[in-house]
Order: sequence, then structure tokens, then C-alpha cells
Amino acid sequence: MTGVQALGPFITFEGVDGSGKTTQLHYLAERLRAAGEAVTETREPGGTALGNQLRQLLLEPSPEPIVPQAELAMMFAARAQNCERVIQPARRRGEWVLCDRFTDASLAYQGAGRGVARATILTLHELLCPGCRPDLTLILDVEPRLSLERARKRLHRAGSSEGRFEAEGAAFFERVRAAYHNLARLEPERCRLIETAAPELEVAERIWHEVARAMAGRQPLAFRKTS
Ligand code: TYD
Repeated sequence: MTGVQALGPFITFEGVDGSGKTTQLHYLAERLRAAGEAVTETREPGGTALGNQLRQLLLEPSPEPIVPQAELAMMFAARAQNCERVIQPARRRGEWVLCDRFTDASLAYQGAGRGVARATILTLHELLCPGCRPDLTLILDVEPRLSLERARKRLHRAGSSEGRFEAEGAAFFERVRAAYHNLARLEPERCRLIETAAPELEVAERIWHEVARAMAGRQPLAFRKTS
């Protein structure tokens, strides 16, 4: 007999470049696995073979300026592929899905950063990623002045050419950060603003606490895997 199975929890990590979200995502994934949960980690742009090709086009220097609408369309092409092929299948298997950036990054970067209308971005999400909405979004907050230096050094050390966004000026990142703050105010039931000034492991602890709190209302995963 097969019962109706709820989707696995979907958690996204957001923040300006260099906010430490990738490290924190890995900490959470490891802690969930240690607790016996199945976890899929993914990222945007990326997560699939097509998504990684688009990531290169989006993050590496471009031979001509990329117009904001084209940038947005490529972000959503990668996202649609990731939703359909990675995120939703994993959730249907009852797994936790942790995604490094999602549609909120488009609202912050292409919306607040580049000036694309919020309604356009939300419409694209509805059309291209129907039913794919995070249960919880952790916004790692840091002053762009501090985090960008970190992000640029990291790219330099890795010999990476993925620096198209890091090359933007301070005003761009202040708009991105303000958009994330605004999002946390607009959607307090889904979004948590996480202060990152504390040491890494303290931030990880705070995140664990937020995840436990947000998921407390849900049945344990083992109960939802009906057979
Ligand atoms: P990411 O790999 O998370 O960079 P970092 O680890 O430095 O934070 O994201 C790559 C860049 O892509 C980042 O500068 C933000 C940008 N981006 C958008 O502009 N819009 C989007 O929808 C997404 C998913 C990312």
C-alpha cells in the first residue's frame, strides 16, 4: 500500500558574496546526516550539468555586457533544470534539500541590484518552478565591505575567473543586502536573518536551532515514509 507522502524539507541559504553560507550549508548537511537524515546538497546557478554550463556563462567575464533580462533568464534556466531534476525528485524521496541560493537571490541581485521588476521575477518563478518553494530560508547577514574582500581573495587564491558579480561596486552590494533585510521583514515565517559576526561554529549552532524550531511542527521524516 502506498500512502500520500509529504515532500522532504527544502531549505535555502542566502546572503551577499562571502557571507559564509556555503560553509554553513555543509555544516548543516553533515549534522543532519549524523542524525540519520538523507540530504541532497545543491546550488544555484548550478546543481546540474546544464546549470554548471550556465554558471560559467554567468560568473565568468563576458565578451559583452550581459543585459539584466538575459542574466535573469539564464538564472531561471538553471533553476528550472535544478527544480525538475534535482530538488523536487529528492523531496519526493523524502530527503532534505539544502540549496545554496535560490529565487530570493534573483530578487536581491537582478531585482534590487540590477533594477528588474519584482513582479517579473515572481512571475518567472511561478511559470518555471511551480510548487518549488523553500520551507525555510536562512539569510546570512554581513557587511558587504567585509565579506567582499573575503570573496575576492578566495577567488584569487583558487585562480578562479568566476568574479563577474564580485567586480560590482559597493552600492550594488548595499542594495542586495537591503533587499535581503527587506525579505526577512516581509516573510518572517519563512526567512531568518542570521548574524555572522560570531565564530563559525556558533553561527552553525544558531542555524541548527532555527532549523529545529522551524521543523518542529513537521512530523519526523521516518513517519512520513509510508509504504
Ligand atoms: P555563489 O556561488 O553563491 O557565490 P558566493 O559563494 O561568492 O556567494 O553565487 C554566484 C553569484 O551569482 C553571486 O554573486 C550571486 C549571483 N546570483 C544572482 O545574481 N542571481 C541568482 O539568482 C543567483 C542564484 C545567483
